[in-house]
Amino acid sequence: MLPTTEPRPPFDITRASHVSLTVRDLGASRDFYRDVIGLVVTEETRDAVYFRGLEEAVHHSLTLYRTDGAPLADRVGFRVATDEDIDLAEDHFRRTGVPHRRVEKPFQGPTLQFTDAVGTHMEFTSSMDVVDRRMQEFHEYRAGSPQRIDHFQVVTHDVQASTDFWAGLGMRLSEFTAKDGTDELWGTWMEVKGNTHDLVFTNGRGPRLHHFAYTVPDASSLIHAADVAGSLGFGEEIDRGPGRHGISNALFLYLRDPDQHRIELFTTHYQFIDLEAPPIRWEISNPRRSQVWGMPASRRWFFEASEFADEPVHEPLLSATPATLEDYLALH
Ligand SMILES: [Fe+2]
Repeated sequence: MLPTTEPRPPFDITRASHVSLTVRDLGASRDFYRDVIGLVVTEETRDAVYFRGLEEAVHHSLTLYRTDGAPLADRVGFRVATDEDIDLAEDHFRRTGVPHRRVEKPFQGPTLQFTDAVGTHMEFTSSMDVVDRRMQEFHEYRAGSPQRIDHFQVVTHDVQASTDFWAGLGMRLSEFTAKDGTDELWGTWMEVKGNTHDLVFTNGRGPRLHHFAYTVPDASSLIHAADVAGSLGFGEEIDRGPGRHGISNALFLYLRDPDQHRIELFTTHYQFIDLEAPPIRWEISNPRRSQVWGMPASRRWFFEASEFADEPVHEPLLSATPATLEDYLALH
């Protein structure tokens, strides 16, 4: 069933803003995100590295923490409009029984961590320390020249529950994938900032973080990122693309980092500003939803993702699997 977006949500979420991961070799992962992806290193400590995109004017959009254990997804972060929205979110979660806690995080304003309806580890913050934009330091552009963080994709066992939760907080549905001939949701693309998505949920074993995504200036930046990945020994870590998504109309490239966390680089989506238009529906059997041309994604892309710490993974409620590259090759 399509969700009902709350037109006057209890607090004001403004955009997808930051993500944190744990990694086993901080130096190797720093080199990957700086040299193979092209992110700017804002700050480096013994146990953490903070990155931002070239046009971002705040301290970080990606944080890596050192771990001696298994590499995991740590937090998926959104921005809210003001400090008061953090208070309002706290009140709302207290009233509605959503697990939450206030935390102090370096370089961030008031921060509220919580677990959403399907177990995704999330946080809201209202501000970050301001730093300089590097977007016109063209001599510093390297690899994909990532400009800004854009969205997150989370695998969940219950797409309906996650979509209803976030629509209740004001997120709008731009596109969705349904099991053929039914209104059962396989995937939902939801937004608050004006392009097609800030947050995506797809059906599968979850909660797990499938990927986070940065925009790049143009198609040649994607190709250059692929070339750089190849020349620095990460050619095997391109696990999809370049290609063109039907959903959102983006040119994309997906890479795996040294711990197999997945990052997407993509040319930007269309603007989602005709709000009276219905969300675009795709059937799971239609390969154009996932790629307009070229071959389907591999099993590796569809089924591998990063777990969250101490969060049990559930088998999906919906039984519907898109065709993979392996299926395609077996049939042709
Ligand atoms: Fe994406």
